[in-house]
Amino acid sequence: ASGAYKYYCNGQWLETSCGKTLNNQNPCTNQTAYTMQACTQGEVNQIFAAAKAAQKAWARTPLCKRAEALHRVAQLMREHAQPIADCMVKEIAKPSKDALSEVVRSADLVAYTAEEGVRALGENRLLTSDSFPGNTRNKLCMVAKVPLGVVLCIPPFNYPVNLAVSKIAPALMAGNAVVLKPPTQGAIAGVHLTQLFHKAGLPAGLMNLVTGKGSEIGDFLTQHPSVNCISFTGGSTGIAISKKASMVPLQMELGGKDVCIVCSDADLTLAAKHILKGGFSYSGQRCTAVKLVLADKKIADQLVSMLVPMVQGLKVGRPEDNADITPVISESSASFIEGLAQDAKQKGATFLTEYKREGNLIWPTLVDNVNPNMRIAWEEPFGPILPIIRVDGHEPAIQHCNASSLALQGCVFTQDINRAIEVSDAMETGTVQINAAPARGPDHFPFQGFRDSGIGSQGIKNSLEMMVKTKSTVINLP
Ligand code: G3H
Repeated sequence: ASGAYKYYCNGQWLETSCGKTLNNQNPCTNQTAYTMQACTQGEVNQIFAAAKAAQKAWARTPLCKRAEALHRVAQLMREHAQPIADCMVKEIAKPSKDALSEVVRSADLVAYTAEEGVRALGENRLLTSDSFPGNTRNKLCMVAKVPLGVVLCIPPFNYPVNLAVSKIAPALMAGNAVVLKPPTQGAIAGVHLTQLFHKAGLPAGLMNLVTGKGSEIGDFLTQHPSVNCISFTGGSTGIAISKKASMVPLQMELGGKDVCIVCSDADLTLAAKHILKGGFSYSGQRCTAVKLVLADKKIADQLVSMLVPMVQGLKVGRPEDNADITPVISESSASFIEGLAQDAKQKGATFLTEYKREGNLIWPTLVDNVNPNMRIAWEEPFGPILPIIRVDGHEPAIQHCNASSLALQGCVFTQDINRAIEVSDAMETGTVQINAAPARGPDHFPFQGFRDSGIGSQGIKNSLEMMVKTKSTVINLP
């Protein structure tokens, strides 16, 4: 296994005893980008044992000291932002500027979590018994927030740094130990990130990193008896995990089919700008990407005529050159997107821009006159293809939104505040953005999916709350 990136257990970088390694691919070339350890189930056991032991002492470490450690991590992330970003360019073809800003955003997230944690977790409740009928004031209930234990953090390929620290930082701040299983595409960004936790001087065993094949260690990790919480972001695998996991809190975000409702009175310049960015940034590989435009028939022609040149103007190319559209994560992902395009074409959709593909690189594609019989009306392409359905008023748009099994975010463009509130109230989705494209950030905002889009809520404060449990101590007075 020599030459391969090591895994991290109990404060040490190690090679797997089985000698097996695993490669990830550069999406631009489909050639090996990096090699990592293919850890065994035995090594997973050792990692959990180390995490479990370290957590006991960490739970007793003062909150202000935990915060100091996270501030050190945030500082190191700022100092080492470029090499981490370079990994992302190579492993996940994220445009270099976006990769760098992801690391900086993530350092801010870690620092903010430390700030929020000292306050939110430092405040506990005291209840008195006399407010409940039949009681006198003879019982005092001290309600404390105590750590869960070991948190298994599984981020997705598209934000291997930000969606790693959005799980790790609140877990640690709340007094838990962490086992990080990075996505294979994005694993080495996770390795670099872990090295910064090491450098920051966290106690051995508190933060651990395991790499390996999902087929060999995936279920073993998620069903491990030492797991006390699973924080997962990804696709429908999360649903399978939730069915198998037993009696542990789940924080899951599983993708979206975010609709953009454009009403007849919308500011179309604003809507077009947001649809472009929302639909095509990082080539549509964001769970919060605009994945379906529901345009009022009255303005659809005008909206489309504005969008077409904007989409055609997107730069297609390499992440190193900061192209807007870069190769999607894998060949199988590109083929899946192509399948959606072909289905729409066969069923009569209008391609406003030509569908073109070279390897994993797919040119930005705008598809008009989509109807609910087409797969792309419901499925999440996770690529640079954006369907438009023309609707008669906002009612059918709301109905489509609510009929989807995915319900992460959505947005509505209108200049009428009453209509904005009416539509957003009626949209049964985790977040509704008024007059802007869906987005998770700023990272302290709550973030949650309804239905198959997830369970539990994220965002810094909500994540801190997800990573603790309630412990009551009742003082019984004479
Ligand atoms: O891909 C899923 C992310 O949670 C989306 O985050 O809105 O910051 O791109 P973003």
